[in-house]
Formats: sequence, structure tokens, C-alpha cells
Amino acid sequence: MRRILVSWLILLTLAVLAPACDDGGAANNANNANNTNNTNNANNANNANNTNNTNNTNNVVTPMEGVSDARADCILRRAKVTWTDPQTQPAAAILVRAGDRTVEVAPGVETVDLTGLPDDTELTFGLRARAADGRLSEETTVSCRTPAPSTDYLPPVGPYLTLLTPAPEPVHQTPTALDPSTHMVVHYESAVEGFSGTVFVRPTGETAWLEAPQDPAVTGFPAGFGEVHHFTLAGLTPDTAYEYQVLGPDGALTPVFEFRTLPAAHDRVRFLVLGDNQDELALQRWAAVAAALVSGHLDEFDFIVHVGDMAKDDVEHEGERHYWWRVFFEKGRELFARRPIYATPGNHDTPANPDVTSFVDAYWANAEDTLSFRKYFYIDPNMTLPDDYHFSAGCAFFAVANTEVPVFYGRHPERDTTGRVDAQRAWLNAVLGGPDTSRPWVFVVNHVPPFAPSGGKDEVPFVRPYVTNFHRRVDWNLAGHVHQYQRTRPLVADADVHAFAKEYGRQASQGVGYLMVPPAGQWPRAEQLEAMDEELASYPMYAGNAALETGFTIIQISGEDFSLRTWGLGDVNARNPAGYGDTGGKRLLDALNYTRRATPSTSDFPWCHYRGSTNGWKTTAMTLVEDSTWEITVLVTPGEAPGFKFFTDHTGERWYGDDPPLDGLAHSWEAANLAFPPGAGAYTIRFHDVLRHYTVTPVP
Ligand SMILES: [Fe+2]
Repeated sequence: MRRILVSWLILLTLAVLAPACDDGGAANNANNANNTNNTNNANNANNANNTNNTNNTNNVVTPMEGVSDARADCILRRAKVTWTDPQTQPAAAILVRAGDRTVEVAPGVETVDLTGLPDDTELTFGLRARAADGRLSEETTVSCRTPAPSTDYLPPVGPYLTLLTPAPEPVHQTPTALDPSTHMVVHYESAVEGFSGTVFVRPTGETAWLEAPQDPAVTGFPAGFGEVHHFTLAGLTPDTAYEYQVLGPDGALTPVFEFRTLPAAHDRVRFLVLGDNQDELALQRWAAVAAALVSGHLDEFDFIVHVGDMAKDDVEHEGERHYWWRVFFEKGRELFARRPIYATPGNHDTPANPDVTSFVDAYWANAEDTLSFRKYFYIDPNMTLPDDYHFSAGCAFFAVANTEVPVFYGRHPERDTTGRVDAQRAWLNAVLGGPDTSRPWVFVVNHVPPFAPSGGKDEVPFVRPYVTNFHRRVDWNLAGHVHQYQRTRPLVADADVHAFAKEYGRQASQGVGYLMVPPAGQWPRAEQLEAMDEELASYPMYAGNAALETGFTIIQISGEDFSLRTWGLGDVNARNPAGYGDTGGKRLLDALNYTRRATPSTSDFPWCHYRGSTNGWKTTAMTLVEDSTWEITVLVTPGEAPGFKFFTDHTGERWYGDDPPLDGLAHSWEAANLAFPPGAGAYTIRFHDVLRHYTVTPVP
């Protein structure tokens, strides 16, 4: 017997399941039309019946026989109505009325499934048989009550959101990114074998839930690897909030979570950059970082870029294959259930390569097994296919490269029998010049940075050749791995050398920014090299030494206006000096604002350094943010008596101070420190190198 599924009120199920790139509005219209037809059919049937009655006023009309054995059975947000068709008079159709909607069912079907029904509601369904001549039977009514579901289900993993589909894009066979204005992919792992999941979704404000069945299972993972339930929602309306719940094996639902699709076309982009969570349960700060993000920053970004090292390690623990992945997703659930994540694997997200024993490092790179990463991020487990990918969102293009490839094969070139390093570099070069990079802003995302002034990471040189593609094509490189927040000065670099530019941008005299996000949970590193003072425009400092901070970065772009904020939540083991004031609370570490210029800014100074109490009177390069205007953000710690000067080589190397009475002008012949307002916190300092005017402003 055929099963017929009919949604209650509005038949939007088809819109949810529509193929990729389907227009949501069109799908809705089609469904509305379908509803209208149903209603019209019912009305026409009534009219026909009336007409028939009128025309046969003087004749005896045999009443149409009704259905028998009718019953309704309610389950979660569904009802199944069954009946037996008329036995003595053939019916042309059975009309099933649900509220003010009527569904027409062909004879012989004798059942209809209604979906999207309200919870905890007594529902009555009316059934009438219609003869070929339009006569209608008396209505038979049946009722049932939908259950009130529990909403306390929390899956072992998820729910979480992404925007990749495993279908390889045709040119480079990389995973395909979906349009974030019309799609969302919901995932969760129930860990119950044979269970097939369901996602209930609706535009926020609508009453009817739409049911999305899970995507076909991804095959090719080893036995015992577990199964993630994937749900690709297509045909969504751009710039629209949606609510959803996922169904557990025992019939309970999760709480309601909400996501929002991006606008169809817009000139802005807002995203969170995370890395190096690696939480070992009670010892790290990932839960605190996630809680700070959900409570204080959720409205500041539309998606998450993860630069890798999500799991503590991709190893079995306490008899469970993906124990540390579960910790990552569990502590981040409130965040990942609401914002989609684009991720790249880090070395901890892969297992140690069992065939390679020449390294004592416990966290070997492994480009030959990213199966766990592929399992959770919905990527084909065929390891001959790359897990690099690119995506576009708003005004930005992102190339996401797996640095396990250059690092692992850099150490073991004899194993690169298929030329994966060269293929990845060719891919990166191709996509950075490809049609998608016509988006105004370009980012490259990877775990191991190609440039790390704090040093101490042998892997970095293997990734450095990436930058050959960057000058004039890339705005920012986003990485992690070093467990220390670092933002470089604008750099013009190739695989061997680098030079400093005065401002960030894509013109010949401008440079690329390299960002290493603070660890979002794991221990920060205390490595400190002289190169940091020369090469970095920002890193958390206390009295001239690197401070230890967990945290995250949020980037917002509108038109040509770039804004970056990096927040810290302190160390993991309270290793910062007492004077730094590390309470584990959140504070702003770095802020950068500039308008990208097609015509490079001009300046009187060749460079300008900030030297003061916050950096131990060392030299930190200021960034040119508009004509003759140099900027830096510094962190003043509690109890600190801040003081600073500028230092440059304008007409010989000189300090610039401000003698009393302070007049807000810095000159090389004034010896006293420049004016600084009282109070701890982050301050943006600006200096005009022609007017010599300077400002010190608390960062809001
Ligand atoms: Fe790492």
C-alpha cells in the first residue's frame, strides 16, 4: 500500500528537501499552489454535489456510501489516518479533511500520513467518499491526540551545523561548499545502531514543523567508526531565522536551537576564528571560552572558522574511539548548534601514523588518515580525495588548506608517491586566482602557520611555501597551532624572505596579515623570541614579555572597512605574573580597524614604533591605517602606571614625547612620557606623523 505524507497547514516539507540551489520562494509557492488545489478540489467537489442535487430535484438520489473502519493514530507531530473504502459503491476519491484543509486520496490507498502537527493537541479528521458523479458521502470523523514530547534529548555529539557536502567539486575533487544563504547542514551522532534520525525545522515564527529525513549514510568508514546523522536543508530563504530540533532514539527531542541564513548578496562578512581547543575535561578552558562566546558574542558573527586541533587527540580513550571529539562537541554544543562551522584538521585531529616511527613527538602529523575529521565534517572518507576546500560568504572568499599534507610529506617525502604536496599547492594557486576570488576579501585558513615569529615549531617551514601565492591576492592568513596569539605586521613574503609593509592590503606596497589565534582551551605557550618584537604588530604582553592567554578572534568586514577583536580568558595554570591581573575573566587583547585602500596611504615616517610600559619599552610596530596616521592597541594591566613614547627614523632615530603641560602633540625635542588616561584595559593609540597629534582612546 502506498504511503502518502501530507503536512499540516502548509506543505513545506518539499521546500526543505528541495534539490540544491532550488529557490525557497518558488518551492513555497509550489506547495501553496498544491494546497490551493486541494482546497479547490474540495470546494469543486462540494459545488458539483450541490449542482447535482439541484439537477436531480425530481429524482431519488442514492446517497454515496461512506468509508468504514476509520481510525486515527497520533505519534510525534504526525497522525496516520486509515479507513476502508466504500464497499458497494465505487469511490472516485476519498477526501480527508484536517482542520480547514482537505486532502484528496485515490481509491485503494486507504491511508494518509499527516505531518507537521502541533504537539499535545486533540485533532479531528473528517473523511468523505466522493463518487465519480460528484456525490459526497456523510463525513466520518476520527480523532487522536498528539503527544507532548520531552525536549531534554542531548545527543552524544551535536547537534552542530556545517555548510559542506561530500560531493566533490568537479575540477579539484575537493568537498563542495553550499550556498550559506539557502542551505544549512545539521548533524548529530546518536550512537544507536540502526536508528535513523529526523530534524524538525521551521522558519522562526511559524507554527508547523517540517520534517527532514537524514541524508543517505556516508559509506567507506572503517567498522566501529560510528555514524553521524547528516541532514542537508536546501531551498531555505535567505536572511531568515530558522528553529530546529533533532529527534533522539527514545522519541525525545533536543531543545529548540536557532540558526540564520545569510543574505543572498551583501557586502559584509562577520566570523569567529577558533583554534586549539584540545580540552582534556577539567584541565583546560574550552568550556569557559565557549560559554563566553555564547553569552557575550553570538550576535557578532554569522559562522565559525576553525583552524584545527579540536580534539585533544584523535585516539581511543576509555574504550571509546572518538572520546576526545565528543568532549570537543559537547563543550561547544550551545555554540555549534547555532552557528555553522568551517574547519580544517590540525595534527591532534589525526592519529599517529603507525607506519612512521622516526619521530618521538607524540603528535605526529598524519596526512594519510583524516578519517575522524572527515566523519564529523561530512567529507568523503576516500583518502585519495583531498579535504582542502574553498567557500564564499558575503564579501569574502576562503581557501581552507590541510597543513598535515605539507608537514607530513615534508618529513616523509618518500611517501608522497602521488604528489599530494604539489597538488595542494597547485590547488591553492588555482583557487586564489579563480573566479570565486572575485569576492572583495580573501582569506587562507590552515592549522600550522606559514610564518610564526615566536618560533619553536619545526613544522612551520614546511608550510611557508604557501605564501608564494599570497602577495596581492590574499588579505589575511588565519592559523593556530602555536598556542600563542600573534598578529604580524603587514608582510610581503615569499618562501625565503620577507619585508615589512606599512599597511595591510592587496596593493603592491601593502602586505598580508598573518594571524595566529590564541588557543581556545589548551595551555598557552610561553615561548618568547626577539623576532616577535620585530615582526609582530600585536601579541599579549605584560612588562615586555609574552602573556599567556586562551581566547578567540572575531573579524567583521563591511565594504572596505576591516575590524578585528581578539579576546583573552587568561592562562590555564595561572602562570602569568600576579601584576598581569589574570583572573580567568575575559578581556580585550587586540583591536585593529582599518579601511582597505586602493591607493596606498602616504606617511612622513618610514615606520613608527610604540615603546612603553606595556611592552617593557621594547619596540612594537604601529600600523598605518590612513594617510600619516599610525595605530596600535595596547593592554594596560591593573595597577600599572602607563607611559609611552613613539620612536622612528624620520630625521635620524628619535623618541617622541610630550613635556608638561601636556598638549596632545608629540615631538622629538620633548622628553616626558606621552599622556595616558587612568584605568586598566585596552587602548587604541593613534599618531599623526605630520601634525604630530596623538590620541589614546579606550577600546569599547
Ligand atoms: Fe597543532
